[in-house]
Amino acid sequence: MRDKILVARLLPQEFIDQMKQFAEVDVWDSELEPMPREEFLKRSKEATVVITTLSEKIDQSFFDSATNVKGVVNLAVGYDNIDLELAKSKGVIVTNTPDVLTETTAELGFTLMLTAARRIVEAVEYVKDGKWQSWGPYLLAGQDIHGSTVGVYGMGSIGEAFARRLKGFNCNVLYHNRSRKEKAEQELGVTYKSMDDLLTESDFVVCTAPLTEETKGKFNKETFSKMKSSAIFVNIGRGGHVIESDLIEAIKQNEIRGAALDVVENEPIANDHPFLNMDEIIVVPHIGSSSIETRNNMVQLCVDNAEKIINGDSPITPVNK
Ligand code: GLV
Ligand code: GLV
Repeated sequence: MRDKILVARLLPQEFIDQMKQFAEVDVWDSELEPMPREEFLKRSKEATVVITTLSEKIDQSFFDSATNVKGVVNLAVGYDNIDLELAKSKGVIVTNTPDVLTETTAELGFTLMLTAARRIVEAVEYVKDGKWQSWGPYLLAGQDIHGSTVGVYGMGSIGEAFARRLKGFNCNVLYHNRSRKEKAEQELGVTYKSMDDLLTESDFVVCTAPLTEETKGKFNKETFSKMKSSAIFVNIGRGGHVIESDLIEAIKQNEIRGAALDVVENEPIANDHPFLNMDEIIVVPHIGSSSIETRNNMVQLCVDNAEKIINGDSPITPVNK
């Protein structure tokens, strides 16, 4: 019997065809609608490999169902949707998609930073709403990136790629990370700071960290209150890094100026979420790695990892060795 791969999201046919060469493939038929949980659990029963997205929680109930599974291949670099310890205890391999998305994700972070600093969303709406009457000396005046101090929380590969871009804008780059990154300090000229110093000194604070027990809720009432009142917060990590009600309050109380977010706590965001009524907050729908080329590279990496797992070889990008 051929091994079966369950693919939890509709992917381009060329990748499905590749997988059909080495396995039977069961693909969910929607790109934007996640598989209902029951359906996912039912169809994972026979699977040797499941290709998952952040929408699929890989927990005890999954392992109760997917009794034949050897590999969980996550189409993302982050894997906070997966109980890694549990997977390990079941002898199940977990893979992610590091490296291939680093530069693209850093670019989105950079785009968000520029967009918020120069109030581009407000400016576009201003024009569309027919409000453009004349050139105004301080019309939609924003903030400079060049020469500013930027604090990067999380100096992994995305943090480094982000810092490299800032250098081109002549920014003073500070960082905070679980461990010192001496190589990045030498190569990129970034400066390690305590969390408190990073918060108080930065004009922009950018979260690029993975979500863990340690980083969860890191951006809260206390941390926002330490930032400059002119600071802009950018999040390309996970929504769970932020206590959202504290962010709203910090902006309303003028403790910080604004925020640009690729991620929110509960995705997709609710239509009545208060963020959506605030000019000072920009939200985009978790598109950090979403360039066509990078998404193709991520999917290809998933296909290659699935093939390795099915053949009993070491996968290319295992999360748990
Ligand atoms: C997206 O957020 C990812 O982790 O790849
Ligand atoms: C603006 O367009 C300027 O010329 O200052």
